[in-house]
Amino acid sequence: MCGIIGIIGTNPVAPLLLKGLERLEYRGYDSAGIATLDNGRIGRRRAEGKLFNLADLIAREPIVGTVGIGHTRWATHGRPTEANAHPHASDRVAVVHNGIIENFRDLRAELVRGGHIFETETDTEVVVHLITEHLNQQMSPREAVAEAVARLEGAFALAIIFAGRHDLMIGARRGSPLAIGYGDGEMYLGSDALALAPFTNRICYLEEGDWVELGQDAATVHDASGAVVTRDIKQTALSGAIIGKGQYRHFMQKEIFEQPAVIGDTLHALVDPLRRRVELPDFPFDLSAAPRLTISACGTSFYAGMVAKYWFEQIARQPVEIDIASEFRYREAPLPEGGINLFISQSGETIDTLAALRYAREQGQKILSIVNVLESAIARESDVVLPTLAGPEIGVASTKAFTTQLTVLACLTIAMARARDAVSAETEAALCTALTEVPACVAEILNHDTAIRKIAHFLAEARDVLYLGRGSTYPIALEGALKLKEISYIHAEGCAAGEMKHGPIALIDETFPVVVCAPSGPLFEKTASNIAEVAARGGSVVLISDKEGIGKMGDYAEHTIELPPIDPFVAPILYAIPVQLLAYHTAVIKGTEVDQPRNLAKSVTVE
Ligand code: M6R
Repeated sequence: MCGIIGIIGTNPVAPLLLKGLERLEYRGYDSAGIATLDNGRIGRRRAEGKLFNLADLIAREPIVGTVGIGHTRWATHGRPTEANAHPHASDRVAVVHNGIIENFRDLRAELVRGGHIFETETDTEVVVHLITEHLNQQMSPREAVAEAVARLEGAFALAIIFAGRHDLMIGARRGSPLAIGYGDGEMYLGSDALALAPFTNRICYLEEGDWVELGQDAATVHDASGAVVTRDIKQTALSGAIIGKGQYRHFMQKEIFEQPAVIGDTLHALVDPLRRRVELPDFPFDLSAAPRLTISACGTSFYAGMVAKYWFEQIARQPVEIDIASEFRYREAPLPEGGINLFISQSGETIDTLAALRYAREQGQKILSIVNVLESAIARESDVVLPTLAGPEIGVASTKAFTTQLTVLACLTIAMARARDAVSAETEAALCTALTEVPACVAEILNHDTAIRKIAHFLAEARDVLYLGRGSTYPIALEGALKLKEISYIHAEGCAAGEMKHGPIALIDETFPVVVCAPSGPLFEKTASNIAEVAARGGSVVLISDKEGIGKMGDYAEHTIELPPIDPFVAPILYAIPVQLLAYHTAVIKGTEVDQPRNLAKSVTVE
């Protein structure tokens, strides 16, 4: 799950590679490295940790050349050391790789028996030795790569340079994405269009099994059989500008505070405020006719799907099944004829979600996706894409992507309910009104930032935190726990409030904070009982509710966060905001790396 870039041109390549890698750090930041051709010889600079370490190294020990490859790593095989950092190289070839070579142990054993000496713990190094072996047998670079790639099992996107060949770079993909960028006298390879946006907006995505020979002015693409093929070159609208933090200390904080605007933008695209009606783009299939809607996603996007399951079932009366994408296809669940499969992903590159999509496609399902990155693989492989207009999300912890996903899902629910005759025009109008009030309510909740920061001091002392929710705010409890653990490293669990008494209640004591998301409404009284149960066992409750809920149960809570009174329909969107702020401030108090927490990456492109 790494970022790769390659550039072949006539300009000094090291600064360009660093610029591209800056845009790929979201794919991993365990180490970074580049390799260039210096007078025909392969030179490398590699550094452990974040990209600035590599930039410092290159400033101290410059590297020349106009042809080069670069890599930012999220470690899978081998510790995050300099030795394991890409590019991996012999005196004849240098390789960067995203993906996992699943048969690397067998290949490595075979190569070692043949006299090859390995320097790293990585799966990637076998690619270097295989290609070198074939080059030593007098094969051309193209033949050597074809022979090597044919031996690989698993997923890969590769960029490869060859000693003595300033006129050639080869890229290949299977399972992992790879894009070609067309410049002016300079050609590029990259994991995505984002990395290439500073250089060009003319992008061609390679298809499964494709490989490409790049020169300074041209690219020749071959399919898996070796035949020369033509692939579309598209204009991307991605900006090459570096996104800054503005007045904020962290990207996550900035992204939390952008939510009123981006939810508003997303609603603007989908809701007609005058007619109080949802207007979706045309679908190539009938939204009313699916016997089942099957939702798959990972992490925070999965929790958005969980909220939507409540909405689709209650409001649209649409049967829904939901599963985490990494499990979905292994269940081999029978999927009904005419079923719609919905995939939710910020990045659109999460490999588990993409694999689930491909499984659903093989089963003849209709494919609908909600993505934030429109250039992504999931968007490209869907029948219909509903975009979230969150803008680039840089912080590893997802915030504005989540609430815009919920916004799109709420609109989709209304559209589906109308298509299925499950709501009247009046009900649709009321739901639309509730949705259009969300941006202002979110802005109001953000005004509680200082008060929430004070409560975060209390959470920062805890070893474990429990989050409770009921109904459509149950997934918000799960999301709150995920946010807290991923950026503050405090263990947290989300639990359906009614399920607490079936086990988790044993954990409660005086040291155990319990954050309860409980909007007043039909389910409040049940959750109120659970709050009382926690308090009776000495647990410290942080109650997130409205005036009415806090009026009833505030006395049981150590801390309260009062949200505006809202239609229960939109409660999950609004209750997401305080749990994001709690996690953010707790992490800041604990001094963790909020935007790039340890062991994580923004986009998870390995299984
Ligand atoms: O890009 P995706 O939405 O497909 O990513 C899914 C998860 O990896 C992601 O939501 C992850 O759980 C976040 N770090 C949570 O904040």
